[in-house]
Amino acid sequence: MQGLAAKIQEAANSIRARWAVTPRVGLILGTGLGGLAAQIQQAAVIPYGEIPHMPESTVESHTGQLVCGTLAGQPIVAMEGRFHYYEGYSMQEVTFPVRVMKALGAEILIVTNAAGGMNHQYQLADVSIIEDHINLMGDNPLRGRNDDTLGPRFPDMCRPYDLKLMELAESTALELGIPHHRSVFVAVTGPNLETRAEYRFLKGIGADMVGMSTVPEVLVAAHAGMRVLGFSIVTDLCLPDCLEPVELPKILAVAAKGGERLSRLIPKVLERLG
Ligand code: HPA
Repeated sequence: MQGLAAKIQEAANSIRARWAVTPRVGLILGTGLGGLAAQIQQAAVIPYGEIPHMPESTVESHTGQLVCGTLAGQPIVAMEGRFHYYEGYSMQEVTFPVRVMKALGAEILIVTNAAGGMNHQYQLADVSIIEDHINLMGDNPLRGRNDDTLGPRFPDMCRPYDLKLMELAESTALELGIPHHRSVFVAVTGPNLETRAEYRFLKGIGADMVGMSTVPEVLVAAHAGMRVLGFSIVTDLCLPDCLEPVELPKILAVAAKGGERLSRLIPKVLERLG
């Protein structure tokens, strides 16, 4: 059987054959947050199905494609559509694209997602800058034999989210008048939303935001030595004592508003990377 490192190289080579630039940044666009892809000066748009060893798309993630080009002067490779664990993909499949971004040369990973806000101070469509996370997915992409060429056996998680990038995102959001918070993000598998008792529990263990993605990708990015910047959009308020059933169209409408904010914020952050 072909090893992971060889599969990563094969995937990276197939992308390089269509886009010969070394990206500085990898970007993962979350549910409803794909608008930013349109701002990329696109040099190559590659459907996931045309990249060797990428997971086969399920119906839910049919929009998946890699958008390669330039955003705010930075060479960037962006995932329009991500793979979710709840869709049935393994942790290795969910995180394979991050490995490929790193192999292409990306040193920074920017992740975005739509998530539930459990902090009373948060409002719908606020931007939450991920300061730290809790992995409650009950699985880990780094489980199994470690390939030391990809990263260490026991990667440090003292600070997986880069402090300088976080501060840059904060000062930029402040300047642009975008409501934002620093948050602890907890990842669950989904696909169901949480019960009121679960929201109480998740808040109690120290989380401000809850979502069904991002942590696997961040674990792999940290393993690979990438600098990570994470954004969540507050798409629903998860306050156990006044919880209402969520409606997907409402979540998507709020995600669109938050996505518009990220579409202003992220390019400005990129411009200021130095
Ligand atoms: N819980 C988990 N994932 C989510 C939520 C939530 O409330 N909202 C958006 N994604």
